[in-house]
Amino acid sequence: MRLTTARVAVAAAGLALVAHSAAHILPRQHSLEEQPSPYQSLQQRDPDAVPDARHAAKAAIDAMNTAFYSQAAGRWADTWWVSAIALQSMLDYMHKTNSCDYMDRARHTIELQKAPVPGREEGGGNFRADSTDDTGWWALAMISMFDLTKDHSYLNISKLDEAYIYKYWTKSPCAGGVYQDIREETYKNAIANELYIFLAAALHNRIPGDKAYLKKAEHAWEWFKKSGMVNIHHRINDGLVSRADGTCVNNGQPVWSYNQGVILGALTELYRATKNKGYLASARKIADGALAKSSPLVRKDGILADPCPGSCNGDMQAFKGIFARNLGVLDSAVGGHPYQSFLQKNAKSAYSKSRDAAKNLYDVH
Ligand SMILES: *[C@@H]1O[C@H](CO)[C@@H](O)[C@H](O)[C@H]1NC(C)=O
Repeated sequence: MRLTTARVAVAAAGLALVAHSAAHILPRQHSLEEQPSPYQSLQQRDPDAVPDARHAAKAAIDAMNTAFYSQAAGRWADTWWVSAIALQSMLDYMHKTNSCDYMDRARHTIELQKAPVPGREEGGGNFRADSTDDTGWWALAMISMFDLTKDHSYLNISKLDEAYIYKYWTKSPCAGGVYQDIREETYKNAIANELYIFLAAALHNRIPGDKAYLKKAEHAWEWFKKSGMVNIHHRINDGLVSRADGTCVNNGQPVWSYNQGVILGALTELYRATKNKGYLASARKIADGALAKSSPLVRKDGILADPCPGSCNGDMQAFKGIFARNLGVLDSAVGGHPYQSFLQKNAKSAYSKSRDAAKNLYDVH
């Protein structure tokens, strides 16, 4: 059972890398700077341009679903948040290839998972969970469902989730930020706050005339960048530790790849909202910090690797795919595709070295 749980995340991670490779080899998109409506570009791409990458991504999703999805449970066999990542991977695939191959499975998953979370019934369901980051992953998947279907019930769920997460924003300690752990309220960390910024900015970009979500997203980013979590190498450690006087400092915990990734997607949404290139510049500094020669996140052979102690556990195995997804988002938003060769190299490596060719399941390597 342990092996099974670990592998779902791995399949999702490998898939995201390969899917991004597909996206990057597809006919070159215009950068957002030239493109008034970023959400309409997908229809213009030729989904059959690179059958190999597309087929590899589809094979990875099909393998992930066959090996790990339970129709009865409506989720993949792993921790709950990793099911949100697996769902997101299917939605990304449909988005990039302009298909609806997995829409029935996506709807079924959401229908079952939006029930109140066992042990957190008071959240009232719709993904209002016992940690703000778990809610954030599902809420972002609801944003993607809205993009794919234009069905406002999904956008409505992500609005409920934003309100729920924001309830855990406090002025003290740390002069702001949301708590990650809802029951204990002890930990303000990078992932919960990055997901919050992403969600609030994404809501703004989908709600005509909105001002409130944008204000919250911008405020949360202003707080985040000065919070102490971003270190002098422009890399983001896991979170903050508070001192007796209510101020907070970087807790020195590892720089996980997903913490460098989600903020790239968040800042790209903020750029879409404002056309302020400062957001893209901030994102590039973080991406470049993650990929620098001195970074603990890139091996000598140029392959992304998390600094796992010994081996990566089931949570950690999902990190790389999340980083790749968001690096791809940033890469499409800035001119010149500065991260394309890195993504392609990693996708090819995952495909040739980390894939069980008979089963199409991936390992982290
Ligand atoms: C979304 O929420 C709004 C406001 O509460 C409501 O008027 C609308 O009917 C909802 N839309 C759907 C599709 O559920």
